[in-house]
Amino acid sequence: MSEEASPDTAALDLDDARRRYHFALAPEDLDRLPFYAALLARLEADEGALRLLASVRAEQRNPMLVLAALHRAALLGHPVLAPLYDAIRRGAVTDVGVAADAVLEVVRDEPEVVRSQLWRSTQTNEPGRSAVLQAVVRDLVAPGETMAVIDVGTSAGINLFFDRFPVSARDTGDPLTLVCEDEGSVDRVTPLPSVGARVGIDPSPLDLGDVDDRLWLKACLWPEERRRHERLDAIVAHYLTWPPTTLLEGDALDRLDDALALTAADDLRVVVNTWSAFYFTEAERRAYYAALRELGASSNVAWVSVESTLVAWPDLAEVADDRRRGASQVVVSRPGEAPVRWGWCHPHGRWVERLGGA
Ligand SMILES: C[S@@+](CC[C@H](N)C(=O)[O-])C[C@H]1O[C@@H](n2cnc3c(N)ncnc32)[C@H](O)[C@@H]1O
Repeated sequence: MSEEASPDTAALDLDDARRRYHFALAPEDLDRLPFYAALLARLEADEGALRLLASVRAEQRNPMLVLAALHRAALLGHPVLAPLYDAIRRGAVTDVGVAADAVLEVVRDEPEVVRSQLWRSTQTNEPGRSAVLQAVVRDLVAPGETMAVIDVGTSAGINLFFDRFPVSARDTGDPLTLVCEDEGSVDRVTPLPSVGARVGIDPSPLDLGDVDDRLWLKACLWPEERRRHERLDAIVAHYLTWPPTTLLEGDALDRLDDALALTAADDLRVVVNTWSAFYFTEAERRAYYAALRELGASSNVAWVSVESTLVAWPDLAEVADDRRRGASQVVVSRPGEAPVRWGWCHPHGRWVERLGGA
């Protein structure tokens, strides 16, 4: 699979690319990630970098893809990027501006480092979102009821193990413990339901056992967040001891019925999408939503959506909540009921807020 991005130079929308670089990080992450903040500021101001991003197919036109391509080159030993990203990961860089300048030089001198990877998709598989899923599932699944999980846009399927991760408000030092601060009445006490089938769907599922796939998963992480790197390493070391999963290759809509067919009828089937509908086309999103409404009306199917506010679901009024700028909205539907906004969370599950009365 190597469809090179083929820029139609005349049609490139550089203003759009500039906006995308500008808003790539949530405001609350800009201070936390000074190197990526500095690098994005430089990319936003560089015409070559704008062209690279603008040349990506629309549904993947995400600055994270450019950042991941650079990070991948670093992990593969690029002579400039490797030592620099290694120092960033170790927290050993004092002047992030100088570091970001050096990366920009690579983008200018060797655009192929980025361009050659633009056929890929942003496939960040973020286990932190499992902390959000645990909270929602405790609300959705009645005591004694069992469930199956279908993760749409599953990447490497890490969130199919959502119930395997301990959650704590503070870093305990254990890489497998997710750190998530709760706001509102989030239930962390009720035992999680027993989970039957665990099925993921993705157009290009990644294999935690494959060296290249693991490299891309690492590249999609942010170099300044050492704990996320350690967590991925720990997951790779443990996942074979966890319950089996099935990853189906294909688009959400094409494989949803196949996924449902792998679940037991009396389990509550919980269909989940976390930061994957963001990459659907508008038509796909509408059809996916309609399919889930229909399934929810006629069968034992619930839905949990954790997506950017840029993903507008048809029946939910948009909210302009400045406090939640850059946050992800959590939308939930129970069988036979219309979707409701359940709450908010950090895009990587660093905090979750459950709205009252959901
Ligand atoms: C940013 S990753 C998120 C992965 C995972 N859901 C998580 O939260 O960690 C987005 C995933 O959506 C997948 N994706 C993109 N378009 C899709 C589609 N039409 N149907 C299913 N998955 C899709 C991508 O391949 C990618 O693995």
